[in-house]
Amino acid sequence: MKTIEINLESTRYPVYLGRGCLHDRSLWNRHLGQGKVLVVSNETVAPLYMPSLLEALGERETEIHVLPDGEQHKTVKTWGSILDKLVAIQARRDTTLVALGGGVVGDITGYAAASYMRGIRFVQAPTTLLSQVDASVGGKTGVNHPNGKNLIGAFHQPHAVMIDSASLDTLQAREFNAGMAEVVKYGALCDREFYDWLQVNAALIAGRDESAIDHLIERSVLDKAEIVGQDEKESGIRALLNLGHSFGHALESETAYDRVLHGEAVAIGMVTAAKLSEDRGFCEAGTAESLAALLKKFELPVHIPDDLSVDRLAAALKLDKKAVASGLRLVLLKAIGEAFVDQGSTAEQILNAIKESQG
Ligand code: NAD
Ligand code: GLY
Repeated sequence: MKTIEINLESTRYPVYLGRGCLHDRSLWNRHLGQGKVLVVSNETVAPLYMPSLLEALGERETEIHVLPDGEQHKTVKTWGSILDKLVAIQARRDTTLVALGGGVVGDITGYAAASYMRGIRFVQAPTTLLSQVDASVGGKTGVNHPNGKNLIGAFHQPHAVMIDSASLDTLQAREFNAGMAEVVKYGALCDREFYDWLQVNAALIAGRDESAIDHLIERSVLDKAEIVGQDEKESGIRALLNLGHSFGHALESETAYDRVLHGEAVAIGMVTAAKLSEDRGFCEAGTAESLAALLKKFELPVHIPDDLSVDRLAAALKLDKKAVASGLRLVLLKAIGEAFVDQGSTAEQILNAIKESQG
């Protein structure tokens, strides 16, 4: 098993990487408090991994709470249901919440941990590729509002993250591929060497080669650790992790969170951001094409669906919480491996990039 330390201004915590670590009793004993444990999962993941997790938790007083599955349930309602459960079990400050599932379960549970009694301990046990390489690390927690993705939330860091890549064996291909979008994102925004490695090893990864997958998870977490270590609350460099997300979030909210997966939206959003970067002369022609070619190796969509209205997407972009009065803040590319934040795009340039992305 490997450990990556996340060193932040406010705290530090370990990310464990290892096949089988989800069921490692000694690891859990290290990170659960003295009090009760509430494991939150969803109706898909609970039947797969809850029994063995409960076994690993041993004699400890443990309760479970199972949420409905899906991004459309990442709402104030499901967040409230966790708080209701905490009250019902008379949870106290020494209670630990465990998030067992993908990014949706992790984000909602983390936000419940941030809110209950102004903050209790929680541990992330991510079971999708996307949540293992991104969502479980860095302490962003929250839920969606019908008018905007992740509009409600808090920074609340986990006490530990248990990344068991063996749990990916049960993950559907489409979900695995969606996770690859966030992996490619690290290469595109800050790690050219990793990007090149992904290009060379795409076939192995698509064939779910274990050591390739373990390598890409580790490299992604290291990249994320490096960035959040410099900027815990996104006042600077951390914004680069939002490459593709402004366009992606608009796509997700325009399709009511039930047509395009988050990772798929990020894939399309990254290519759109690359097109805009090319149009504005920041990066060389062909950058968007290279990115699209790599994403397609993981069967990811790279075009905005034709039936979506450009005007509505543009309007949704303005609702994105990253919009600021002085112009839309977008993460653009100078080259693969070199992202930066820019506020200088005109509405027309943004609209053009969206149109170019439909195809
Ligand atoms: P998800 O949580 O919806 O999981 C995807 C699907 O896989 C679900 O149906 C789930 O039940 C199923 N699943 C989970 N683990 C499984 C397993 N091991 N085997 C079989 N099925 C399994 O989606 P996701 O892609 O994991 O996460 C997306 C969410 O993460 C979005 O809401 C996004 O906003 C959020 N996110 C948060 C951060 C952050 O920093 N907090 C970063 C990136 C994404
Ligand atoms: N996924 C973006 C971030 O954690 O900042």
